Parts: sequence; structure tokens; C-alpha cells
Amino acid sequence: MGHPIIHVVRDADVVAQQAADIVGEVVRAHPTAVLALPTGRTPIELYQKLGVRHRRGELSFAHTQIFNLDEWVGVAPASPGSYARFMEEHFYAHVDVPAPQRHIPNGLAPNLGVECERYEKLIRQSGGIDLAVLGIGSNGHIGFNEPGTPEDSCTHVVLLSTLTRRANAYAFPRGQVPHRAITMGIGTILDARQILLLAVGSTKANALTKALFGNVTPSVPASFLQHHANVTVIADTAAAMLFPRSSAASYS
Ligand code: PGA
Repeated sequence: MGHPIIHVVRDADVVAQQAADIVGEVVRAHPTAVLALPTGRTPIELYQKLGVRHRRGELSFAHTQIFNLDEWVGVAPASPGSYARFMEEHFYAHVDVPAPQRHIPNGLAPNLGVECERYEKLIRQSGGIDLAVLGIGSNGHIGFNEPGTPEDSCTHVVLLSTLTRRANAYAFPRGQVPHRAITMGIGTILDARQILLLAVGSTKANALTKALFGNVTPSVPASFLQHHANVTVIADTAAAMLFPRSSAASYS
């Protein structure tokens, strides 16, 4: 059982700054670190800050291995909305990760089950994840592990909830969000040596509060993070607005 370190900060900019500090510390301490990285709106400012630090010569990702948490099924890497394209635009174009060290599930694989096994095995062969950076869905998902996903799940294909598909409609032309995705499992994420969870905005307040202070339950997948010994949470004041008063969060 772990006690997450919880930082509540002013706004999204400070969330990104503090997250970039933690990613930077891990990569400087272990230049060959294996990172699991998220997509979505939350990490965009983090990637901008990491790009700036790289350009200033403060940070190199040249020897890291990067594994994306998830990818849509049936979306080609170059298509709008694909997470491969998201990573290229927001992160890889601005840092120095060599192409062979960038990993993402192949949502076009002819046999998705085999692809999930390949991805899970590749993570293990790389030595396991040193730092997993996560966002949280307003339904409490991490990666695309929707409510009901078991704690010991490996990389798998998921049927996405209506809520999740609606929340991602902005990224697809005419809002045609795929119905399925490949995601690292909750077990895959919990195997990471360190976890950093980021939450911005009031739409996350309910899920984040349940995840950190509620019962550990598959109906709130992020609540399984309570079983991990090294979790840091960085939330803005809006995402933290429902935290109990007695919580051990630090406010700055
Ligand atoms: P968001 O997505 O960063 O776009 O809010 C987070 C998530 O659904 O995990």
C-alpha cells in the first residue's frame, strides 16, 4: 500500500513545470530510462516544456525508450487523431528520441491479440518502465483502462465507453472516434517503478478525488494506484477542489 505524494498547484502551467522537473530528474539520473507517456490535452504543456529544456541543452532523451500508453484501433499513424501523430507533433519533433526507441501499439495490426503480446513483451525486454506519466479520464480511466478493467491486466484491446469517445471527439474529423483502442493494462502500469499522475480542470475533480481518497475498485481504475508505492500526483486547484480537507496534499 502506498501513500501518493500529492501536489496541488495554481494552474496547468505549474502542473506542467513540476511534471517536467520530475521527468527531467528521472532522465538525468538514468539517461537510458524507459518512460511510458500519455496523450490527450493534459500533457501538451509538459511536452512543450520538455522541448524547451532540450533546446536549451538541459535535457537529452537520446538514450531513453518511450512507450505510449495507448493507440486507437484502425487509425493509421499519419491520420489525424492518431496518437502516433500526436506524439510526433507534440513531443518527438522537439526532442532527440531516435526513431527505433519510440514505441506505440500498432492499431492496424492484422492480429490485435498478437500485437498486444508483442507490446507487453517489448516493455519487459526493455527492462520495464522506470516512470509512467498518466492523465486521468473523467470516468477514472488511466491509459484506456475503462471502469471494470482488472488490476492485473496486461496490454489489451478495449471497447471504449461513450463518455471516453465523446471526450475525444475534438481530435477526429467529423467527430468519428474509433470504438476500440489498444492500451497498456493496469498491471502493466503498476509494474512501473515510479508513476506520475497529472490532472487539470474541474471535469477531473470527481474521478481524481475518488481515485485518491475512495475505495480501491475496478469501477475507478485510477484507484488501483493506491496499491503502488511510488506515486506522485500533480493537480491544479480545479481538479483538487473536492479533496477532503484533511487530505495530506501540499498546496503551493
Ligand atoms: P485529457 O485525457 O488529457 O485529454 O483530459 C486524459 C485521459 O483521458 O486519460
